[in-house]
Amino acid sequence: AVTADLSGRHVVISAGGTREPLDPVRYLGNRSSGKQGYALARTAVARGARVTLVAAETGLPDPAGVDVVRIGTAVQLREAVLKAAADADAVVMAAAVADFRPARYAPGKIKKQDDVEQPPLDLVRNPDILAEISADRARPGQIVVGFAAETDDVLANGRKKLARKGCDLLVVNEVGEHRTFGSAENEAVVLAADGTETPVPHGPKEALADTVWDLVAERFS
Ligand code: C5P
Repeated sequence: AVTADLSGRHVVISAGGTREPLDPVRYLGNRSSGKQGYALARTAVARGARVTLVAAETGLPDPAGVDVVRIGTAVQLREAVLKAAADADAVVMAAAVADFRPARYAPGKIKKQDDVEQPPLDLVRNPDILAEISADRARPGQIVVGFAAETDDVLANGRKKLARKGCDLLVVNEVGEHRTFGSAENEAVVLAADGTETPVPHGPKEALADTVWDLVAERFS
């Protein structure tokens, strides 16, 4: 039986991949399916939490019992997460947030020009939302969790990223073209700021979600 160890808690989860528009028909996106974030939302509801899910692009229907806020870009995701985090006990950033966005949005569809073979694509940095909420907690004791997809030196890079972002927990997984993205399964190591490492064997994204909530709940008490 599931214990309601998150009852009375408000948790905010971001999920899916942001889309950064170039013009009315094109965007820069990524391969995030949103499944891990949605699994976090479902398991948090099952454990009694009030859940706000800030959902970037996913093909998924709204999970039952969750307050869903749909957004498109990283800047919109930031607004929605900061607003929901104001009274949150935990914030879990499972979304794949674009690090860059096009410097300009073209209000009309960009056309091919016969004499231009290599049109420029200027990008600007997006805000790092995880680093921002970690540095500036909306409430004392708020637990902040990040995700990191790495292709090499997974643990060493994960440790550096945890320190750089300033979050309490960082879920690190190894990604490749045929792993993790879009899959119902995941395999990861959860690194904690206190130095502990919790390996999560290959299995359903719900199992990883439950491990994350176990570690969050431990830190509440
Ligand atoms: O730096 P990197 O993109 O690998 O970090 C991944 C983590 O940081 C994820 O938890 C993601 O949601 C978060 N992130 C963010 N804002 C960004 C980029 C990533 O909050 N601009």
